[in-house]
Amino acid sequence: MAATPFELKGKSVYVAGHRGMVGAALLRRLVQEDVRLVTLERSEVDLRNQIAVFDWFAKTRPQVVFLAAAKVGGIVANNTLRADFIYDNIAIASNVIHAAHLNGAEKLMFLGSSCIYPKFAAQPLREDSMLTGPLESTNEPYAISKIAGIKMAEAYRSQYGSNFISVMPTNLYGPGDNYHPEYSHVVAALIRRFHEAKLTGATSVSVWGTGSPRREFLYVDDMADACVHLMKTYSGPELVNIGTGEDITIAEFARVVAVTVGYRGEMTFDHSRPDGTPRKLLDVSRLARLGWRARTLLEDGIKLAYEAYLSGR
Ligand SMILES: NC(=O)c1ccc[n+]([C@@H]2O[C@H](COP(=O)([O-])OP(=O)(O)OC[C@H]3O[C@@H](n4cnc5c(N)ncnc54)[C@H](OP(=O)(O)O)[C@@H]3O)[C@@H](O)[C@H]2O)c1
Repeated sequence: MAATPFELKGKSVYVAGHRGMVGAALLRRLVQEDVRLVTLERSEVDLRNQIAVFDWFAKTRPQVVFLAAAKVGGIVANNTLRADFIYDNIAIASNVIHAAHLNGAEKLMFLGSSCIYPKFAAQPLREDSMLTGPLESTNEPYAISKIAGIKMAEAYRSQYGSNFISVMPTNLYGPGDNYHPEYSHVVAALIRRFHEAKLTGATSVSVWGTGSPRREFLYVDDMADACVHLMKTYSGPELVNIGTGEDITIAEFARVVAVTVGYRGEMTFDHSRPDGTPRKLLDVSRLARLGWRARTLLEDGIKLAYEAYLSGR
């Protein structure tokens, strides 16, 4: 695992997906670096459009690429929009990675997701458990597209010597999250539901599933900091998990959100909704060896996320 320092200073840095939760956090973090930030609106170039992507890269030639653009969603979106999830994400990864290669990008970071690990892989999830067993079926198309992106980065490194790396973030939350009532991730969904219940004076809030699955949550600004750290210090074919290394049951987590939001009613569990993978905790020992650990405590992060929700961020 080589740890060649990579100089960001003075470079043109393209953040793909800069309006997204992670992309926006990357912009917030990268303004602390002496770089020239490059962004691109989806209305100018849809990253699924190969010709448009290739033209833009040929004109712009960014030296560094953070690939944080993707079609992203919670369990319902993943399970129902299965074709969109596999098509969009394979097209985006394929177009951006190949264009970065063709135009001499010095370094690229591909963002995967912890759902690439097999449903029943040993916990905590080690990077080398990828492709050792069947995936969780509800988000298999998304996971396959992410595995394709990881394998592309690895293949370009092996065939062309490209300095392309992949990172696997755990569940993220924070400013810029998606609060869609059906298509959001668990953190945003719970913040919204408890907040609305507080406003309407509802006496009960339903939480999807049994409450027993265990999940790990990372504040998105910590995630951006980890990405910048790894961009500067890590170069290798192996994935790097990004997480806190700690998990919590959905029921316990829901209580943290309820307390933060100030909801004082009951909580019920809707067993008709799917639970997904029973446990999802990343092994973050590689990340720790590379010199990074999460700083934001869950209670503090949820407070910041709720403040951002209230102010419409
Ligand atoms: N959120 C999580 O918990 C989580 C966990 C693990 C990994 N990740 C990974 O982190 C990355 C970013 O996730 P996120 O949560 O920031 O997602 P997000 O908030 O939905 O943002 C996704 C971004 O991608 C852009 N995008 C999507 N399709 C596009 C297209 N066809 N052309 C151009 N731009 C397109 C969106 O543009 P518009 O703004 O124009 O829609 C948006 O800016 C993804 O690779 C995801 O897999 C996220």
